[in-house]
Amino acid sequence: MCFPVRYAWLVVALSGLIAAPPGHAHETLKLDAPKPDLAATPPMGWNSWNKYACNIDEALVRRQADAMAASGMKDVGYQYIIIDDCWQKSRDTDGNIVADPERFPGGIKALADYVHSKGLKFGLYSDAGALTCGGRPGSAGHEFQDARQYARWGVDYLKYDWCYTGTRNAEAAYTIMAKALRESGRDIVLSICEWGDNHPERWAQPVGHLWRTTGDIFDAWEGKKDYSLGMTNILDLQVERWRHSGPNAWNDPDMLEVGNGGMTSTEYESHFSLWAMLAAPLIAGNDLSAMDADTRRILTNADVIAVDQDPLGQQARRIWKQGDLEIWARPLKGGEHAVVLFNRGDAPAEMTVNWGQLNLPAGLEADVKDLWSKQVSKSVRGSYGGTVASHGVIMVRITPVF
Ligand code: GLA
Repeated sequence: MCFPVRYAWLVVALSGLIAAPPGHAHETLKLDAPKPDLAATPPMGWNSWNKYACNIDEALVRRQADAMAASGMKDVGYQYIIIDDCWQKSRDTDGNIVADPERFPGGIKALADYVHSKGLKFGLYSDAGALTCGGRPGSAGHEFQDARQYARWGVDYLKYDWCYTGTRNAEAAYTIMAKALRESGRDIVLSICEWGDNHPERWAQPVGHLWRTTGDIFDAWEGKKDYSLGMTNILDLQVERWRHSGPNAWNDPDMLEVGNGGMTSTEYESHFSLWAMLAAPLIAGNDLSAMDADTRRILTNADVIAVDQDPLGQQARRIWKQGDLEIWARPLKGGEHAVVLFNRGDAPAEMTVNWGQLNLPAGLEADVKDLWSKQVSKSVRGSYGGTVASHGVIMVRITPVF
């Protein structure tokens, strides 16, 4: 491109106009209403993206709601049914967002009502840019109008993405939507999805209830694919993040791939265990209506979920690493601890955690429950260990005996 220099100001001015649609003069606005307390523990639910991407419709969403209620998932705490990108089609002449009439002929309100009738909550997706990542209309310049619409429809959760945002300031853009949601008259969880690109740990706490820390996950043990990362690559990016997470303000290492077929059962156990250790939102991304028994066993492991949902809300730290072997630990409410012995290697490995590594006295007696085998070892002193399968975990809950 070769613009004469004297026209450079014009290019700058025009790009400013494109990047800042009407309404952006308010980008400095402040949040006066406090953030509603809607995520004391990490949100749990299902989202359409990981398995279906844009291939969604209302029958699919109803099936997932039916399955969440019937499969035992609802009983162990899953509650949000979230439609990700591509439910939108256009805006009407008044600027109201319009759902795709072919895929959602009954409309979003009826779908939300259906989800609510199952005793579940309903989530939608939008984007802070002119377009969503899938090229549908975004919410830039329509934040208050969209938030009011979501409230009328009965939306309980908004995932708000970051494509086509040009030069927008992330804190300002998410603050506008946070304010719009708070003024909508309905309690709506705000899930910030700017992929950790703009240091959300510095500003997102008063704004949203959770924020993505990385690009997208894909259904593989490890690897990189365009903008997406395998499970262990995502995990590695969480190591330093534990300081910035807690009740009502969670780090989000992206949704679960359990049951989507790209990893082994052992690897999915590791994925689920580690996400629970991270106090991650547990948002399933598989077809709940056609889960095999093993997927269901993993996703509904109530002991692992209890670690994720521990009220202290303390994200795990990686307290030890040697080659392919890692120990992750998090304190739980009431003086208990959760520990994961994680073996990334190709062969089984003997692993042990010492009480000293958990800042517990070596002589302390504790009951140790293996959260996958369900075996309880009584009055253990000093350390606990075992053989950890290749790509597997031993995950335990340590309860001091006083
Ligand atoms: C981005 C997000 C994904 C998903 C897609 C939808 O990539 O990070 O989680 O919402 O957009 O287009």
